Amino acid sequence: PSIQMRLSVNGHRHELELDIRVSLLDCLREHLALTGTKKGCDQGACGACTVLLDGERVNSCLVLAAQCADAEITTIEGIGEVMREAFVRHDALQCGYCTPGQICSAVAMLAEYEAGVPSAVGAPSLTDAEIRERLAGNLCRCGAYNGIVAAVREVAG
Ligand code: FES
Repeated sequence: PSIQMRLSVNGHRHELELDIRVSLLDCLREHLALTGTKKGCDQGACGACTVLLDGERVNSCLVLAAQCADAEITTIEGIGEVMREAFVRHDALQCGYCTPGQICSAVAMLAEYEAGVPSAVGAPSLTDAEIRERLAGNLCRCGAYNGIVAAVREVAG
């Protein structure tokens, strides 16, 4: 079954006719050609598909596009310039497949930290261990974690 819906992505409104079973991830990539958001596991385990839904990090493979009609979606095409440059400076990627999700997650994580949202570790300051904890949902198969933490640390200041 299809529905007509509006989706707001990176400040642009789109009119779409979509099967209600289409994930936000597939909608972004296949209907809106926003292919910066990557599909890794397609089951909520890797974080490659991370986007922001009203500013909150979500795995877009686990969200139905039809659930997002009233939300503002932000993808890697819409944020993260400062973080991107830091990733390049700190060699925070190898193959780069996880990078858009890492960057979306890192940008949102810093905003969460600044808003006082506690992590599981609950450290009072943004230590490297705290950064790793807060980005634990984003896996990097190449193991570029040291560079990722260094890049996030630089942006955090
Ligand atoms: Fe969504 Fe892996 S593709 S979490």
